[in-house]
Amino acid sequence: MAQKILVTGGTGYIGSHTVVELQNAGYEVVIIDNLSNSNIGVLDGIEAITGKRPVFFEGDCTDMNTLRKCFEENPGINGIINFAASKAVGESVQKPLLYYRNNLNTLMNLLQLMPEFGTKGIVFSSSCTVYGEPDVNPIDETAPIKPATSPYGNTKQISEEIIKDYIKSGAPIKSILLRYFNPIGAHPTAKIGELPLGVPQNLVPYLTQAAAGIRKELTVFGNDYNTPDGSCIRDYIDVVDLAKAHVIAIKRILDKEDTDPVEIFNLGTGRGLSVLELIASFERATGVKVPHKIGDRRAGDIEKIWADPKKANEVLGWTAVVPIDETMKNAWAWQCHVTEK
Ligand code: UD1
Repeated sequence: MAQKILVTGGTGYIGSHTVVELQNAGYEVVIIDNLSNSNIGVLDGIEAITGKRPVFFEGDCTDMNTLRKCFEENPGINGIINFAASKAVGESVQKPLLYYRNNLNTLMNLLQLMPEFGTKGIVFSSSCTVYGEPDVNPIDETAPIKPATSPYGNTKQISEEIIKDYIKSGAPIKSILLRYFNPIGAHPTAKIGELPLGVPQNLVPYLTQAAAGIRKELTVFGNDYNTPDGSCIRDYIDVVDLAKAHVIAIKRILDKEDTDPVEIFNLGTGRGLSVLELIASFERATGVKVPHKIGDRRAGDIEKIWADPKKANEVLGWTAVVPIDETMKNAWAWQCHVTEK
């Protein structure tokens, strides 16, 4: 019988791509999402790609009664992939309690219900933000955790600790913490992708909207950093590559007996790209110009960070493979699809 995976936040950006890969790999998927930052239409996209509509439970994971009902109505959940969280760095500074409440209560509710319902494993979406500004690049999982610079970042650090402490206390579950670098792009079918509400805060959605004429121009936040072209460097990872890592992670937790109860992996390409290089890649891949100007630095930005993904490559047998130009082409196809609608 197919194993059943609960995907919290499964209609969101990374969640929806992961649902596709889970279904393609033969898993049965139950999504729980409160649609606070996503759209029910995403289910149509998932169905169009995979030929299967996942079970959908509308509800808020911060509410224990709702979450319990979801477990009761969907018996036999073997594993959880937890995407349900608020993720805008700037907003988290304005509304810290919202971020602590959403991100931490969701996680604690899930952890509490897991033993009760015999759910064995949880994959958690963490972030390279836990490393702060690295002393050296590329950065591996043994690097020190730096004090968080936003409530959002802090929820990732605290969540990692909560999971470790809970498992240390003897809870009969296992977990894999995935530290994402910068997820970008969309499904190559252009049937699902990122749907930012309002003015995008992240680089690629802003870039594609500027290219589409929805925004006047992209502002490059600073060109006086200590990098070859002066703009910030990140490790941009294709969202489908990222989604596939989750399938490997949940399989490892559920099927492999001899692994540590908590494991941590960086998910990145191992290659740093500057903001200006990313714009160049987009223009090369699509033939479309990105109107842009150089502006001031953005407060709180990290100068440069990219992953050492060797542990994920060797232990998970996972490697990011989608070339950056391909990722940019997919991001553009998705933008065109959204604009046409
Ligand atoms: C941030 C968070 C990360 C989170 C991610 C997704 C930190 C340190 N990082 O990443 O944890 O997972 O958001 O929400 O908290 N840029 C421009 N112009 C723009 C927008 C961005 O030049 O209009 C530049 C930024 O300066 C940065 C790069 O593009 O150098 C990427 O920015 P962004 O997409 O916002 O992601 P991060 O800040 O790296």
